[in-house]
Amino acid sequence: MTATFSTSPPVFIITIDGPTASGKGTVAQIVADRLGFHYLDSGALYRLVGLSAMRTKTAIEDEAAVAGLAMTLPCRFEGDRIFLDEEDVTDTIRAEEIGIMASRVGALPAVRQALFSLQTGFKRPPGLVADGRDMGTVIFPEAQLKVFLTASVDARAERRYKQLIEKGFPAKISDLRQDLFERDQRDTSRSVAPLAPAADAKTLDTTNLGINEAVSQVLDWYVAKKPNGNALMP
Ligand code: C5P
Repeated sequence: MTATFSTSPPVFIITIDGPTASGKGTVAQIVADRLGFHYLDSGALYRLVGLSAMRTKTAIEDEAAVAGLAMTLPCRFEGDRIFLDEEDVTDTIRAEEIGIMASRVGALPAVRQALFSLQTGFKRPPGLVADGRDMGTVIFPEAQLKVFLTASVDARAERRYKQLIEKGFPAKISDLRQDLFERDQRDTSRSVAPLAPAADAKTLDTTNLGINEAVSQVLDWYVAKKPNGNALMP
């Protein structure tokens, strides 16, 4: 028998999981930019499935049909823009109602299964920063650095409010607090891949932290873990 050795270069994976509006998307994107790594916004995939289900009037109760949409999702990521078919839906999928749809389709095991290989396909050299709910627990359990970002419901509702207003969506802080609460409940209590820190994750509470401080902490953890040397380029 001949032994075969893999020659593919190692890929450093950083997973950043956490509840809605904990700041993980912003932190993950900046960390990926700083390191020259690829970036996976897994929530966007669930949002795209939610949007497709809404547009095709597919009932959420029809798990096989929604999974079918996920399996053939005609999406494309180009820089910071996200396309569904040829339409730029980057801003459309950020609407609160699409977030709620995403959380509902994300509770369906067949949908999570359908999105599995699409997500693992983002693992490419030199590295990947993946943000979501189950990046460190289910999709990339082999990740070298796992971070779990949290923040109080009030801090998250305020952040989400600012994001929505900036994007021109209507928003009411009391409704957002309620939505976040319900979404947290659904995300943490579902039977498949519930929102939870991986056993080997480092938790970072961003309630009183600015984005730069959160990014610095993640980069410090990366420097401590990365092979060959211990300093980042300025
Ligand atoms: O992160 P974001 O708020 O864009 O995610 C939208 C919804 O998609 C979440 O509330 C969650 O229910 C679902 N999701 C998930 N697993 C992921 C990422 C997002 O179930 N890895």
